Amino acid sequence: MLLTVLLLFSVLRPAQAWLPLEDWESGNVTTSGGGLECVCSVFLPDTSFPADRVQHMQQFTNDLRLEVDIQMNKLVHYQSKLESLLGELKELTLRVAMMENEPGSFIKLDFELLRIELREFEALVSQLKDSLNSSSPMLESLYEEIHNMTLIVNQLETYDRSNLEVIRIEFVKLQRKLEECQAEQEIIKPDIGNCNHTGLMSVSKPVVIQINAHLNPSFRYGGWGKDSKPVRGFESMHWYGGYSTPSVYEFYLYSNYDKLVQRSSFTHHGLPQGYEGTGNNYIIHGNTVYYQADKPFRMSKLNLTSAVFSHRQITKASESFSYFYSPKQYLDFSADEKGLWVMYTPEETKGKLVIAKIDEKSFGIEDEWKTNAFKPQAGNAFMVCGVMYATRPGDVKTEEIYYSYNTETGEEKYMSIPLQKFQEEFVNLHYNPTDQRLYMYSGGYYVSYRVRFNYK
Ligand SMILES: *[C@@H]1O[C@H](CO)[C@@H](O)[C@H](O)[C@H]1NC(C)=O
Ligand SMILES: *[C@@H]1O[C@H](CO)[C@@H](O)[C@H](O)[C@H]1NC(C)=O
Ligand SMILES: *[C@@H]1O[C@H](CO)[C@@H](O)[C@H](O)[C@H]1NC(C)=O
Ligand SMILES: *[C@@H]1O[C@H](CO)[C@@H](O)[C@H](O)[C@H]1NC(C)=O
Ligand SMILES: *[C@@H]1O[C@H](CO)[C@@H](O)[C@H](O)[C@H]1NC(C)=O
Repeated sequence: MLLTVLLLFSVLRPAQAWLPLEDWESGNVTTSGGGLECVCSVFLPDTSFPADRVQHMQQFTNDLRLEVDIQMNKLVHYQSKLESLLGELKELTLRVAMMENEPGSFIKLDFELLRIELREFEALVSQLKDSLNSSSPMLESLYEEIHNMTLIVNQLETYDRSNLEVIRIEFVKLQRKLEECQAEQEIIKPDIGNCNHTGLMSVSKPVVIQINAHLNPSFRYGGWGKDSKPVRGFESMHWYGGYSTPSVYEFYLYSNYDKLVQRSSFTHHGLPQGYEGTGNNYIIHGNTVYYQADKPFRMSKLNLTSAVFSHRQITKASESFSYFYSPKQYLDFSADEKGLWVMYTPEETKGKLVIAKIDEKSFGIEDEWKTNAFKPQAGNAFMVCGVMYATRPGDVKTEEIYYSYNTETGEEKYMSIPLQKFQEEFVNLHYNPTDQRLYMYSGGYYVSYRVRFNYK
């Protein structure tokens, strides 16, 4: 029953914290493993049909009419779906009420996410109300139900934590299942490893997974991600490091995404004295951590297979220019379809980023490109298919991917691709070519985005 309810919850959210509304499709997909059937069926009121999706359609089918018909069909089913959702919401309310009777200690932040869910749920219902007739008694009732649940969630903060932990873990796992479900239905299947597109087109809404494994909101510095070139036996390895200062001194490794969500690491690596890092723009690539060592300042790697450290000085790299949100970010590591990169700033370019290709065997720099991205005004940068993308702060809620530099052609472009933020600041942002996602560590939270490419 719990799973049904959570699934419902997931289906209903309009996806601020995970799936973009425009990504939803109707249909069924059975996920393998866990024996959970993931029925992904969602209605899209045509009034909210988003422009970027329309663009897709135009580009790829030239048959908007057909699409509109499909959307209309979905609307027809809408009424009966709402009915069953309402019933399930009632169940959830009951369950939450049961939890109220089991007092205990508990962590505030988990509730924060639940509240976000509810708010977005509310927004979706409100959207539906607008697109249909607001006189529907069912919608009114749904509204009330959400309101009631928000109250209960608020009260629950003083109660038991263990139940919530179970719910939270199931919740996050389902979130990923639904994502997979939805990816199955994407018009364009992700073409992992392929670079025959003309660059980044858009970025999904953020998927906010959870607070860091230390459950500590003051751990604002750190990073998380997935090995971008996993070795045999560690195909889904995820990693995390978090700290309350810019100093980098440990990493946790998880055998897969679910283990990360459960905060159940299989190992932990502390960096011994003299090997600590800083800046937090590290990644794991080929079971090797690439990071910026602090004293002395240099690029370092820790081979997790052999437990061997290696170092290289980039003599030109300056310690004068950091990214906008965080100090000491001098070396920014990145991995993409073309290999391993580090972005740094020499004194001579007066703050503009230089892209350097790292030869993995020798751990030396094999080539370099000067860009026009001014680092102190950039939030961060990352590589995709040999192209560097730089971001800059928009407002509190938005970061903008504003600049790209193609190392193959030397071409630079200015653009405006919004990146919706969960919190204003972030320290680690990188792309992973194995799943075409951006990974961000933002205000102590794990956040990820899916990217879409232009195929012109
Ligand atoms: C979804 O499942 C239902 C019931 O199992 C079935 O009638 C329907 O055809 C399925 N839809 C798709 C798109 O597979
Ligand atoms: C919505 O309400 C308006 C009047 O308030 C009515 O003209 C219209 O037919 C209604 N539409 C639907 C779909 O019920
Ligand atoms: C919401 O709570 C109020 C007061 O507890 C109750 O009277 C009402 O029936 C609830 N609404 C729903 C839809 O459960
Ligand atoms: C890109 O490459 C893949 C595989 O090589 C191919 O299937 C696909 O059609 C190509 N797409 C374009 C737009 O060229
Ligand atoms: C890490 O060490 C293993 C075992 O010695 C070696 O096979 C592998 O090439 C090393 N990886 C890197 C990136 O140096």
